Amino acid sequence: QLRGVVALDGPAGTGKSTVAKRLAMVLDARYLDTGSMYRAIALAVLRAGVDPADEAKVVAVAENAVLVVGTDPRQPGITLDGDDVSSAIRGPEVSLAVSPVSATGNVRELLVAQQRAIIEDAVDHVGGIVVEGRDIGTVVTPDAPLKVYLTASAEARAARRTKQDSAAGRESTVDAALADVQRRDKYDSSRAVSPMKAADDAVELDNTDLDLSGTITALLELVERRG
Ligand code: C5P
Repeated sequence: QLRGVVALDGPAGTGKSTVAKRLAMVLDARYLDTGSMYRAIALAVLRAGVDPADEAKVVAVAENAVLVVGTDPRQPGITLDGDDVSSAIRGPEVSLAVSPVSATGNVRELLVAQQRAIIEDAVDHVGGIVVEGRDIGTVVTPDAPLKVYLTASAEARAARRTKQDSAAGRESTVDAALADVQRRDKYDSSRAVSPMKAADDAVELDNTDLDLSGTITALLELVERRG
């Protein structure tokens, strides 16, 4: 059983969510998808008819939005103002709007505070939590005993994203997925506030040539070593 936090960061399309959920199940821990929170705010922004680049209005939307995030790795899910938006936040409109929304400092402050509260509650009540995002090891829980930065080649990530999209019934091509992955990597790693990057003490794991179970095995070894 996991004690404390596993911080799992990295770019889009590494299979991070699948890996984080599976790891949480195996370790009897909770699971937090911080990307779903940024996506839900981006969806709220779009629903309000606000320009994702209009910082003041985006912050106002974020301040009024009520998010409830599920932390059971078997059934995570997220609601926005009481509405289950778990599928709606995965659409291409949200993927386009989420980078500018998540680059807004005040939005990050609001969400990071909620994330820390969720993490603290999980550690108090269950003992451990696997948290995935872009800034978990650097900003959200810099004291996490294990930080992993999961990467894979952009091509491998685009191929995985395409497979995931078609499995979920969303239209997608490898070219479009590659363009989206590269656009978001660039945006997320070059923003001024909490850019995506590996923490100095993070272990880098490249899973270009690993499947899900290979990735989980590698992570379980790291958990055991840090244990
Ligand atoms: O993980 P996912 O791809 O769903 O995240 C969507 C977007 O949310 C990312 O492209 C990034 O802009 C933002 N994000 C972030 N910080 C996090 C998690 C996600 O900025 N901790």
